[in-house]
Order: sequence, then C-alpha cells, then structure tokens
Amino acid sequence: MVAAADATRWLAARAQLRDVPWSVVIAEDDREAFASVQGLKLRLLLTGLVLGAAALLFSLLVLGRLVKPLEVLTDAARGVPEGDFSRAVPDRAPGEPGDLSRTFDAMRSALRTTLQGLRDSEERYRRSIDSANDAIFAVDPTTLDILDANRKAGELARCAPEDLVKRCFLDLYPDDQRERGREFAGRVAAAGDGTLREIDLATPGGGRLPVSISASVIVHGAGRFLQLICRDLSGRKRMERELSQAEKLSTVGVLAAGILHELSTPLPYVQANLDQAKEDVAALEEGPRTRALRSGIEDALEGSQRAMTIVRDLRIFARGNDGKRSAFDVNDAVRMALRMAQHELKHRATVVTELGQVPQVVGQLTEVSQVFLNLLVNAAHEIAPGDPQRNRVQVVTAVEGERALAKVSDTGAGIAPDALTRIFDPFFTTKPAGVGTGLGLAISRDILSRIGGGIRVESTVGRGTTFTVELLLAA
Ligand SMILES: Nc1ncnc2c1ncn2[C@@H]1O[C@H](COP(=O)(O)OP(=O)(O)OP(=O)(O)O)[C@@H](O)[C@H]1O
Ligand SMILES: [Mg+2]
Repeated sequence: MVAAADATRWLAARAQLRDVPWSVVIAEDDREAFASVQGLKLRLLLTGLVLGAAALLFSLLVLGRLVKPLEVLTDAARGVPEGDFSRAVPDRAPGEPGDLSRTFDAMRSALRTTLQGLRDSEERYRRSIDSANDAIFAVDPTTLDILDANRKAGELARCAPEDLVKRCFLDLYPDDQRERGREFAGRVAAAGDGTLREIDLATPGGGRLPVSISASVIVHGAGRFLQLICRDLSGRKRMERELSQAEKLSTVGVLAAGILHELSTPLPYVQANLDQAKEDVAALEEGPRTRALRSGIEDALEGSQRAMTIVRDLRIFARGNDGKRSAFDVNDAVRMALRMAQHELKHRATVVTELGQVPQVVGQLTEVSQVFLNLLVNAAHEIAPGDPQRNRVQVVTAVEGERALAKVSDTGAGIAPDALTRIFDPFFTTKPAGVGTGLGLAISRDILSRIGGGIRVESTVGRGTTFTVELLLAA
C-alpha cells in the first residue's frame, strides 16, 4: 500500500521480470482496486440480514404453532383435577399438538362420563338410603366409629346425619346396653352378619327407643365396614298395646250390648209407671208429703229419662252402619232438636235461628236430629243458668257447593286447645260424673261419617264455640 501526498491510497503490486533485472510495478487507486470486494461485502451483509430475518420468522412460526397449543393443552389438563372439564383444547392445531389435543379431549370426555356415572350412582344410593324408613349406619368394624348415617338416623338422634359421623356407635346406647351393643358388633364382625331382636337406643333428653338391629359386614375394595339397620319398634309396641286394649274394649262392648239390651226392656216400664205415679200424685191432696212425693217422682223421671238416653246413644254407637239412608229437610232436624233441648236452653241463652233455603240432604232425620240435640245441650251446658238475655245460641243453615252446612254457635265458655283435640274421643268429657258420658260428639261424628257428612269445631276460650255440621245434598 502506498499513501500519496493527497491522501489518496494506492494499491501497488510488483512483479520481477524473468531474465532481466527489471520489475514491473502496477499501482491502482485502492477504491477502484477494492470496489469489487466492497460489493461482495455488501452482498454478504445483505444475505446475512435476510437469513437472520428468515430465522426469526421461522422461530416465531414454530413458537406459534407448537408452543402455544402446548400451553393451551397444559391449561386444559390443569382444569381436570379441579373438576373443570370445559377448558378449550387446541384440537384444530396441525400435526402432533393437534393429535395430542384430540386424544386428550377424548380421554377427558370419557373421564367426565365415568365421573358423572359415579356421581349419579352415589346420588341414587344416597337417595335410596335416605328414603329408607329405618336408621342406617356405616360403622368402622374395629373402632365402631360412625362413618356414614342416613336421614332417619339423624332423626332418631335428633341431629344432622353429618353430625353423627366420627361419633362412636356405642355412645348411641344407654349405659346399661352398651356392653350388649359392643358384644353384638364383635359377633357380626366375626360372623359376617347378625340380628338383634330388641335393644334400646338412648334418645336425647334421657329417653329410650326400642329398636331391632340387622347388621352385616360390607366389603368394598380393600376396605370393609359394618352396616347397621335399626328399625324403630316403638310404633309396633304401641300398636300391640292398642290392640290388646281394643280387644279388651271389644269384650267390654259385647258385655255392654247385652246389658243395654237387658236395660232397654225394663226402662220404658219404669218410665211409664213413673208417668202414671206422677198423674196419681197430681190427684192427691196438696201437702208437704204430696210435695215430697211429687219432687221424688220428678227426680226419678229425670233419672230414668237420662238412663234411656244413655242406653239409646250407646246402642246407636255400638250398632254401626245399618246402611239406611233417606232424604230429609235438615231444617226439620234442627227444629226437632231445638224442641227437645228447649228445657236445657231456656234458662241459659236466647236461641237465634237463621234457617236458609236448603234442598233435602242424605241421612236419617232422627239420627241427625240427635246430632243437633247433643250440640245444643253441649252449648247449654257451657253457659251458666240465670241470664238468658246475655248469652246466645245460634243455629244457621245454608248451602255451600254440594253440601248443606249447619252451624251451631254459642257464647259459652269455649274449649281449651288441649281439650279441642280430644272432644271427639269416646268418653272424653269435662263434665262431672253422672252429667256427661263423653259419648255425644263421638256418636255425632260416627252418625255423620256414615252418611257422608262431617263435623268440625272452632272455639275460643271465654268467647264461645262453633260446630259446623256438613251434610251431602240428596241428588
Ligand atoms: N259447645 C261447647 N262448648 C264448650 N265445650 C264443649 C262444647 N261442646 C262440647 N264441649 C266439650 O266436649 C266434651 C265432650 O262432649 P260430648 O258431647 O262428647 O260429651 P259430654 O257432653 O261431656 O257427654 P254426653 O254428651 O255423652 O252427655 C264436653 O265434655 C265438653 O268439655
Ligand atoms: Mg254432649
């Protein structure tokens, strides 16, 4: 390289000539000399740039087509253990990622179907266990800790079934039954099943509940548990008691029917003779002895009348359905009863009647009249005598839909809520012995139900009572 004074750089080359002492020197401006090399350099640079850009583009493409689908797939896979089967998968991705996605999606659907099936079956099992009428417990065979309990078991222990879990089953027994319970569980665990005909469970509040227990060992996979099915025996025991009571009552009923029959024959004679005696006494001369005689006869007449009413009522009650029905005017039945009850009512209440236009009803006039008579006498009994102006007994009849309604209301003492649920029970009475037998309302309900009718009551203590009698309209 030769540098000239004007800063021009020259490129010089010297070649020795053969056989002469001369050399040839060629000098060239270096820009001209390197022009082709500079061009090559530029081309190389440009090629490098193009290749770099291509490499970058390729990487981006690979990233977009391979890495992105894998990220989406990973996210979808993470959702599975969390129970989220709905996350998107890149199933349209080409090549391997696409294949992988589709396979994953198919596996995920199969898993979801299997899981749903398991949940449905668990739900069915839970429902059938919960709808059982017996208390069912799953119990650890070694510790006797409760693993699971159904709805009825919760009802029995008066807590939520979940609250029974982890408690020891032996704690459900009263102290004196615990050893028997432990021995039974041990026997079942060894033999595979067993039954305890009767044992008590403790109820909250210190009570006892008799139950029978059928138990078996259930093996599932590698584990096993005891299934204890406890059946409440209290209803059966109550029924057995009631049955024996009913048997006794039916024997008493047969005896009573005989006695009633015996009584119903002489009573009319007694009544007739007393009537005759009353007439004879009326003809006697007035005096203290005559007055005493008259009052004695009056008392005897009232007593025999009452005895006849009781005999008649009991015979109707014992007779059952004789199937006889006819059509009659309910207002006639009311009027007949009012006439008979007049004696009881007149010193106690003002009687108000609102007898509507009611078509004929189904039943027997005398029987329905007996119902009204009992209602009117009951009303009278709940009103103190002496001030009929202040008290009221009202009878209203009307039609409502397919039925005739007759309401008998009074402004008497009313019925206490605990008595209200029992007034239709045979022999329930709040009246002193000799005044009420407690059969009036039981007979009334019986009469009405035999003819397709009914009776209901509303009452407020201190304000009064309303009985509503319903009767079917005759076609
Ligand atoms: N209108 C009423 N007001 C208040 N209590 C009533 C009324 N009607 C009935 N009761 C109550 O219902 C009980 C039962 O009545 P029910 O007619 O069956 O028997 P009783 O009147 O006691 O006796 P029986 O009618 O056999 O002579 C009565 O003892 C009374 O306590
Ligand atoms: Mg009565």
